[in-house]
Amino acid sequence: MKRYFLGVTGLLLLIVVNAASAQSVEKAIKYRQGAFSVMGWNFGAIVDMIKGKRPYDQADFARRAQVIADVSQVPLEGFVTESHAGTTKARPEIWTNYADFEQKMKLMQDAADLLATTSLSGDYDASKRAVSVLGKTCKSCHDDYRKK
Ligand code: HEC
Repeated sequence: MKRYFLGVTGLLLLIVVNAASAQSVEKAIKYRQGAFSVMGWNFGAIVDMIKGKRPYDQADFARRAQVIADVSQVPLEGFVTESHAGTTKARPEIWTNYADFEQKMKLMQDAADLLATTSLSGDYDASKRAVSVLGKTCKSCHDDYRKK
């Protein structure tokens, strides 16, 4: 009888633990997607200023660049082990090439820092170049690690 109870308790515990980790995977996915969507929102506004679809406003541009630089530090933590199932576009290759994925994240963070500093200087042409450099780092990771 005692053994039976222990078995049932163990089983329940296992179910609870599994549910908790499934939930934290879901939360991690939302966390990284949230960070990327903040970055995408601000990057879109910056690109619109460069393309003349929105008036260029140096202070607003620099503020958005700083938001991107700060938030670029966020998503990596959300890429918890093997979280490529469910409502995510993360490709499984992230976890088989993790060092490369991390490196691409770092290149994006450096490019975002550069854009933030450059845009503060008010040098429009240099800012424009920094936008293009940053955009390439986004694309390079999406090409390899994000589902279409
Ligand atoms: C190191 C890899 C990497 C870099 C660098 C990267 N991304 Fe992503 N991005 C991803 C992955 C992977 C996803 C899919 C995340 C998911 O669905 O779980 C994603 C998703 C997104 C999304 C969709 C978020 C959502 O709502 O689901 C946006 C927007 C986005 N990225 C913007 C950007 C921008 C802008 C940059 C550059 C400034 C950037 N990303 C740089 C890997 C990257």
